[in-house]
Amino acid sequence: MTDFAQPARRTVMCASAALGSAALLTACGDGHSEAQVPEASPVPSASGNGQAVMDLAELEVGARATVQAKHPTGAEIPVLLFRPDEKNVLAYSSVCTHQGCVVTTKSTQEDFFCACHGSRFKPADGTVTDGPAIAPLARYATEIKNDKVIVFVTDSK
Ligand code: FES
Repeated sequence: MTDFAQPARRTVMCASAALGSAALLTACGDGHSEAQVPEASPVPSASGNGQAVMDLAELEVGARATVQAKHPTGAEIPVLLFRPDEKNVLAYSSVCTHQGCVVTTKSTQEDFFCACHGSRFKPADGTVTDGPAIAPLARYATEIKNDKVIVFVTDSK
């Protein structure tokens, strides 16, 4: 008995990837199917009302923090911060891109961690270092003004 009508499992997976996010799988058809980590989310431009969320002096170079900020809906939300150097602070949404749990700085590693299913994110750009999450954390624009960290929270998750 032949199975002409049965597409190979690999074909189905590649077709699914093409319909979903083509960036997630590479090299369908050339013998490789290694997962590719999606690039970091773009940093939106600083627009609207920025919020002073902490004194810059409270966040040492290399440190991570969670602060509270006001979302455009009016809700108070946790925002993740990372200070890569003297002149910059990066800000991310704390909404896990896997199933929406809260990502925190409570981690055994120097990263952002989601305790729901164990996803890890790189503080330098929000990309995933360990799944099950695949997509990077959403980013917020930041500024340092009068020795305060200013975050521009947007509607992004
Ligand atoms: S919701 Fe974060 S790892 Fe599943």
